[in-house]
Parts: sequence; C-alpha cells; structure tokens
Amino acid sequence: MTQSLTLRRPDDWHLHLRDGAMLEGVLPETTRHFARAIVMPNLVPPVVTAAEAQAYRDRILKALPAGARFEPLMVLYLTETTDPADVRAAAASGLVTAVKLYPAGATTNSASGVRDFDRVRGVLETMAEIGLPLCVHGEVTDPAVDIFDREAVFLDRVLDPIRRATPGLRVVLEHVTTREGLDYVRGGGPDMAGTLTTHHLIINRNHILAGGIRPHYYCLPVAKRETHRLALRAAATGGEACFFLGTDSAPHVDAAKESGCGCAGCFTATNTLPILAHVFEEEGALDRLEGFVSLHGPAFYRLPPNEERITLRKGEALALPARIETGAGPVTVFDPGFPLLWHVEP
Ligand code: NCD
Ligand code: ZN
Repeated sequence: MTQSLTLRRPDDWHLHLRDGAMLEGVLPETTRHFARAIVMPNLVPPVVTAAEAQAYRDRILKALPAGARFEPLMVLYLTETTDPADVRAAAASGLVTAVKLYPAGATTNSASGVRDFDRVRGVLETMAEIGLPLCVHGEVTDPAVDIFDREAVFLDRVLDPIRRATPGLRVVLEHVTTREGLDYVRGGGPDMAGTLTTHHLIINRNHILAGGIRPHYYCLPVAKRETHRLALRAAATGGEACFFLGTDSAPHVDAAKESGCGCAGCFTATNTLPILAHVFEEEGALDRLEGFVSLHGPAFYRLPPNEERITLRKGEALALPARIETGAGPVTVFDPGFPLLWHVEP
C-alpha cells in the first residue's frame, strides 16, 4: 500500500484570490502547496485591461508570505469593450496567460461580462491568432433555463457557436460539472481542455439541500446529481490529458455565505491536495494524481511543468482548521465529510 507520494509541485488553473485583506488572508493557503495559479479577474471593478492586470499582479506579489515562491498567472476579464490590441500586447509581454469569459450575470461579480457575443468577435479572433486561451464560465444566464441545466445548454447555445466561428481558438471549459461538459471537452480536439474542481468530486446536490441547507456547499456552477459527480471523478482520475485541476477556491467571509442570499463559492485552497489524494487513492489512481495536478495543465498552457517536488504522506487524521481568519473576517474551509489522512509534508 502506498504511504508516500512525491509529485512535481502542483498548479491551480482556476483560483480566486480577491484583493486587500482577503487576498492577504487566503494567499498563504495556496502558496503553501501550489507553484502557480490562474488568478480570476472578477474583482470589483474587474481586471479588464493590461494595466489593471499589472497592478493586480503587483498587489499579489506584495502580499506573498516571506519566502514563498509563487507565480500568479494573470487573466483579463473579457468585456464588450475589450481592446484586441491591449490583449495582444499583454500576451506578447508575458503579463497575461488567458482571457476570461463570464456571461453577464452568470456568477459572483460578473455584471461586466458579455451579453452580445458578436461584440467580442475581434478579441476572440486575435486570441485564436496568437494562441491565447479563453477560460470560460460555461453557464447560460437565461432565467428560463433551470439552474441545473445551465451548463449543458451553454455548450449548444453559446460555446459551440463561438468555437465554430473562431477556428483555432484555444478554450478551457472551467469547473465542468456535468457529463455533457466532459463529453464536450473530450470531443474538442487539442485546442480544448476542461478544469475540474475539488469540491465537485466530493459533493452532489443532495449535500447542499438534503436535511438542511448548507451554504458552504453552494457554489457556481451548482453541484449536480450523483451520476455527474461519478463521471467527474472518473474524468479526474482517468488520466485524460484534457482534464486538470482548477480548484475554483472562492473565499467569501462566513457572514456573506450564511445569509438570506448567500454568495456562491467553496473555499478549498487549504485542503485540496489532501482531499485529492484521498479521492485518487479511493479510485486506485494515485499514480495519476501528478498528471491531474502538475502535468496536464502546463501542457495545455504550453508552460514547463514545475521542477520542484512536494511529498504527500499518509498517516494520522489531519487536524485542519474548520475556518481561517482573515482581515476581512472568518472564511470556512470546505468540509469533505471524511477524515483527511494524507498530509503534504512541510
Ligand atoms: C466564484 C466567486 O465567488 O468569485 N464563485 C463560485 O461559486 N465559483 C465565481 C465563479 O467562479 O463562478
Ligand atoms: Zn471561479
């Protein structure tokens, strides 16, 4: 039985770091284990221009814990007024690793997102030309579409038309939560990838709603039924190169989660690796964990994998804090519902 596992240092290909006191509070939770992260631009106001991405990157670097070696990979928030020339320059200088598409109103802080996809055609064509990936929040916002169907409908109604209209566009379908999304990624060829979160491998919609409402399990896209969760686990642990980890760790203070209208987001930065080791061990796939967390992502993004190594060791149940304290307030850490036996060695 494997009791210890050494991997290349992992990366997180979808992360919310926020700003100010929250940034300072949550950043060490990621830098402890991860070398790089795709940093989501949904601040208020959003990170739209290269200049804004540069300033945000500087704030992240300034907030790094002493001695941390961590590279934030910056992302521009696509709006209907995004300038293709600004995107081209930001990519050429190496400042920006991707552009993020939020359908307007799809999720937290997405009001500036895209309503009319014709208006971003020029940017998408530039991105296809230079090979800059588009990270996609794949949910329609049509109020007539049931929230559990919004991902599947998005594939037909929005994503497929965009990809047909923009040959060569490299796309990451983020936080895939359905079998339909998995199959779409699998069928998309070398320019298509999908990220999978930690929490969607653990919870289905019953965890949110059965026996009392559990706001800390509420995130977007919302967790689906069990058949989808099982398909996500098979995709994560199956060794397919088109799938890799994007935690979507999305901190909100407890008061904002435990409210009459609670925010969406699960905070998993703290315990993602122990949880994933548990899942991969359960699936008899510990030998595939490195691909999922450390190799498939860099390969898609055309970046070298990290040279540094981390070691996971199995032992006594890990006593992790149920919440972390930040200058913005307490943030509850995602509870996987089972004891964590895998530790990342310090
Ligand atoms: C994210 C957030 O809080 O910024 N929330 C979430 O539930 N995932 C936004 C997002 O990625 O959809
Ligand atoms: Zn997110």
